[in-house]
Amino acid sequence: MSNQSNKSNESNESKAFVPTMGALHAGHLSLINLARTFSDDVVVSIFVNPLQFENPDDLAKYPRDIEGDSAAALTAGATEIWAPTVDEIYPSSPKIISAGPIASLYEGVNRPGHFDGVVTVVDRLFQRVRPTHAIFGEKDFQQLFLIKQWVREKQIPVEIISAPLIRDEDGLALSSRNIRLGDQGRSDALIISKALFAAASSDNPQATLLDYLSAAPGFTLDYAAVIDEDTFELASESTEKPRAIVAGWVNGVRLLDNMQMKVTR
Ligand code: PAF
Repeated sequence: MSNQSNKSNESNESKAFVPTMGALHAGHLSLINLARTFSDDVVVSIFVNPLQFENPDDLAKYPRDIEGDSAAALTAGATEIWAPTVDEIYPSSPKIISAGPIASLYEGVNRPGHFDGVVTVVDRLFQRVRPTHAIFGEKDFQQLFLIKQWVREKQIPVEIISAPLIRDEDGLALSSRNIRLGDQGRSDALIISKALFAAASSDNPQATLLDYLSAAPGFTLDYAAVIDEDTFELASESTEKPRAIVAGWVNGVRLLDNMQMKVTR
C-alpha cells in the first residue's frame, strides 16, 4: 500500500487515518496533527475520487500536486502517504454504497450522488488501511454526519474523530476553494462567518442568518439552516446540539461553513 513512509513505530497497534483528496491546506494539516494524538502510525491518503464529482470538468480541474502534498503531510506528522490510482481503488465497476436519505438534503440537493460516492470510497480506503481511528473535519459537517451514521449502522470497527473547522484570521473557513475567490470575492465571502457568529449569540439564529445572508452583496445564498447535530433534522427548542449550516456562492465559487449555536431553551 505504501508510497512513502517515515514510520518509526511498527509495533504500535493503533493506526490513525486521514483520508484526503490532496490540495492540502492548514485545515488538513490540523487533521494530521490531531491524528498524531491517537497513534504514532498516521496514514494519509491522497486520492481524487471520481465517484464524488457530478461534473467531469470539476474532476479534471481538481488541483493535483502529490509531491507537494506528500511533503506537507509528512512534515505535519504523517508516517505514511498513500496515493493510489483509480484502478487500484476501483479495479472493476464499483458497487455504489447508499449514504442514506439525509444524503439528498442540503449539499445533496446540489450534488446528487455525491455522498454515495464519498461513502463508497471511504469504505474502499478503510478496507485497505484498516485504521483504528479516522479523522474527518467538521468543515464538511454533513459528510462527517453521514460517515458516522454509516460506520455506526454497518458496525465498522473504527472510531470516527471529528476535527474542528479552522478559520483564517478574518473568519473565513479554510477551504481549497478559497484561492479561487479573488480579492473582492474574499471580502464578500466574509459575510458567511459574520452571519454565523451573529447567529451563535442570537435567540433566533435562523432569522439572524437570513437577515445577514439573504441579500448580501456578492453572495448568493444556497441554504442556511439550523439543524440538530445528532439527527440532521431541523433544530427545535428541545434540541441540545443546534448547529447552523450554510452554503452559497461567491464569485462562482461554492462555499460551505457551519457553527455550533447556543441552546435557546
Ligand atoms: O473530504 C474529503 O476530502 C473527501 O470527501 C474524502 C473524505 C477524502 C473522500 O474522498
